[in-house]
Amino acid sequence: MALFKKKRGTDDTIKHGAQLITVADPRSAVAEQFRTIRTNINFMAVDENINTLAFTSANISEGKSTVTANVAITYAQAGRKTLLIDADLRRPTLHSTFNVKNNTGLTTVLTSEADEINLNDVVEESGIDNLSILTSGPIPPNPAELIGSRRMETFIELVKSHYDMVIIDLAPVLEVSDTQELASHLDGVVLVVRQGVTQKAGIRRAVQMLKFAKARILGYVMNDIRAENGGYGYGYGYGYGYGAEKKKGLFGRKKSDGQ
Ligand SMILES: Nc1ncnc2c1ncn2[C@@H]1O[C@H](COP(=O)(O)OP(=O)(O)OP(=O)(O)O)[C@@H](O)[C@H]1O
Ligand SMILES: [Mg+2]
Repeated sequence: MALFKKKRGTDDTIKHGAQLITVADPRSAVAEQFRTIRTNINFMAVDENINTLAFTSANISEGKSTVTANVAITYAQAGRKTLLIDADLRRPTLHSTFNVKNNTGLTTVLTSEADEINLNDVVEESGIDNLSILTSGPIPPNPAELIGSRRMETFIELVKSHYDMVIIDLAPVLEVSDTQELASHLDGVVLVVRQGVTQKAGIRRAVQMLKFAKARILGYVMNDIRAENGGYGYGYGYGYGYGAEKKKGLFGRKKSDGQ
């Protein structure tokens, strides 16, 4: 089943938003794959409560925003009160995806000098039950400083107490330094890998950098898996952080759907 027309390295989602297949066609095989990703993330942390989760990738245009938004929707659809945050301040998409203004957002919170943060001032309803959104806000000249700031850490602590699940779209690890910093303060990070595009060396480097920052890598999402019928799908795998990439190759112990 063709998910949608494939393009690489485009500004598509920045201008037009990510495709929300989990809303457009919740019974489709691809929507089911996103639910499987959610289930696998939960399995990876079965004894702990994963409350703050981010998606990142090695490079740009590997499918982060599409995966992040659809996985967030599956959490909301499962009845978890979810907040989806756009923390990719260089290539923000969330406002386009949900067709809302981006005059205020995460950067408003991070640049404000007020002692108290009022979530109602910046968080918006998405139109999907249980899903709230926080867009990037106006793009500042110093995104790395903001995302890696103490105020960002404080903000994450605040939202954690208001939502069952906080899901964050992060900039690519190899492109910007702030991703590592923020990832280390979250319960888990998932790496989005685009089949046939992301270079193995790039993935290894991204994993190294996240590990160096002491981020907890919960696994990876394989995007753009070519299905037998010629469509594109998503899979979830794990093995990073457990030496699997050394023992069994980069994608050792891969457990995935849609291929
Ligand atoms: N499985 C897929 N099949 C076909 N096209 C896809 C797939 N996943 C993503 N795309 C397309 O690839 C482009 C990049 O996707 P997306 O914006 O989700 O990635 P990103 O990693 O967030 O990119 P950016 O670096 O701009 O933030 C978009 O045009 C999107 O529609
Ligand atoms: Mg993106």
